[in-house]
Amino acid sequence: MAAPAAAATLKRGGLVAFPTETVYGLGADATQAEAIARLYRAKGRPAFNPLIAHVADLAAAQAIARFGPQSLALARAFWPGPLTLVLPKAEGCPVAELATAGLETIAIRVPAHPVAHAILTALGRPVAAPSANLSGHVSPTTAAHVASDLDGRIDLIVDGGPVAVGVESTIVSCLDGPRLLRPGGLPRAAIERVLGHPLARVVTDEHADTAHPLAPGMLASHYAPRAAVRLNARSVAPGEALLAFGPAVLPGAADAAAVLNLSPRGDLVEAAAHLFGHLRALDRPGITAIAVMPVPMEDLGEAINDRLCRAAAGREAEQT
Ligand code: TXA
Ligand code: MG
Repeated sequence: MAAPAAAATLKRGGLVAFPTETVYGLGADATQAEAIARLYRAKGRPAFNPLIAHVADLAAAQAIARFGPQSLALARAFWPGPLTLVLPKAEGCPVAELATAGLETIAIRVPAHPVAHAILTALGRPVAAPSANLSGHVSPTTAAHVASDLDGRIDLIVDGGPVAVGVESTIVSCLDGPRLLRPGGLPRAAIERVLGHPLARVVTDEHADTAHPLAPGMLASHYAPRAAVRLNARSVAPGEALLAFGPAVLPGAADAAAVLNLSPRGDLVEAAAHLFGHLRALDRPGITAIAVMPVPMEDLGEAINDRLCRAAAGREAEQT
C-alpha cells in the first residue's frame, strides 16, 4: 500500500504527487514552510499564489478554519468531493503562512479519492496541494502527465489510474456571503440548491489578480498550451488540429492535423474527464493551432468553457 510511504515522505518534508478525484495534486505537509517553498520551486509557480489545504474530513477542516452556517451546509452536502471552500483561518491554524500566501483566509477541501483519503489519514496533517503540473501547463489527469512535467523534481508519484472528474474543484468563498471564485467539478446548480439562492460569480481580471491574489490560479494564462487555441470553431482551417465535442462533423475535419473528441456522444461528464488529456495530446510539435468545437454552458460545461477560454487567452497573452 502506497499511503504509509507517501505519508512518511510528506512528514520528512518531501513532495508527493497523488491522485484526487478532480486532477492529480502535488502535495507537501502544509505545516512545513520549507516543504512548501520546495513545492513552489518544483512547480515553477509564483510564490504569491495560495494553495488549497487538503484534509481527511470536516473535523480536520474545522481545526484550521472558521465555518459559518452556509459553509457548514456546503461542507456537509459535498465533502468528500470536488468543492473547495475559502474560509477565515482559525486561531492557531498550523498551516504555514507561505502556503496561504500570507492571507487571513484559507482554501480547504476534502478529496473523495480513496488514495488521497488514505494518505491524509496516515499523515494526520493538512496537505497543501496544487495541481501536479508545471506552472502554466494544463492540470494532470494521469500519473504519466505528472511524470512528464515533474519527474526528477519531486520525491514520489502515487499512481491511482486516470482521475474520474478531470477538471479542478469548484472554489466557493464564504467570507461575506458565498461567492463562486472558480467553476469546477461540482456544478453551480448543485451548490445553489443547497444554498437556496443563486451564487454570485467573482470574475477575477488578470491585472487585479496580480495585485490582490483573490484566486490567482485564475490568471488568464494559467492553462496555456503552446499551440494557439481557437474557440467555437464551426470549421477546421488547413493545418489546424481539431478538439471536437459531440457527433457533428465539421467542414475541413477530414484534413485536420489531428482530431480528438471530448465526448462523441456529447456527454459533459465524459468531456470534463478528457479535457486536459486531449489538450496535452494535441499540444505537440508540428501542431500550431487547435480549433475547438462549441461546448454548451450548462452543468460541467461552465468549468470546461472556463478552462478552454484560459487556454485560448494564454496564447494571446504570450504573443503580445
Ligand atoms: O481540484 C483541485 O482543486 C486541485 C486538486 C489537486 O485538489 N487543486 C488545484 O489547486 O486546482 P491549484 O493550486 O491549481 O488551484 C488553487 C486555486 C488557485 O486559483 C488559488 O488562487 C486559489 O485556489 N486559492 C487558494 N487559496 C485561496 C484563498 N485563500 N483565497 C482565494 N483563492 C485561493
Ligand atoms: Mg493548477
